Amino acid sequence: MPPAQASTSAAPFGIGQRQCIGKEFALMEGQLILARLLQR
Ligand code: HEM
Repeated sequence: MPPAQASTSAAPFGIGQRQCIGKEFALMEGQLILARLLQR
């Protein structure tokens, strides 16, 4: 049996068997927020 938590479990959106499904959305939101701030 592999360990329940891999040593890479601190990766922001998860790594391995369970991963975040909101990753692409969250990364896009980050870009939009940055663009809004830079427009000021
Ligand atoms: C900066 C934003 C976000 C971060 C850092 C993040 C991070 C994570 C992490 C670490 C996990 C756990 C992975 C694991 O179990 O090992 C996770 C799971 C999940 N995330 Fe996110 N997340 C973010 C945004 C979102 C958004 C915006 C949504 C939905 C719109 C979302 C939906 C989910 C769902 C449904 C799971 C469970 C997936 C599963 O257990 O199969 N997340 N996320």
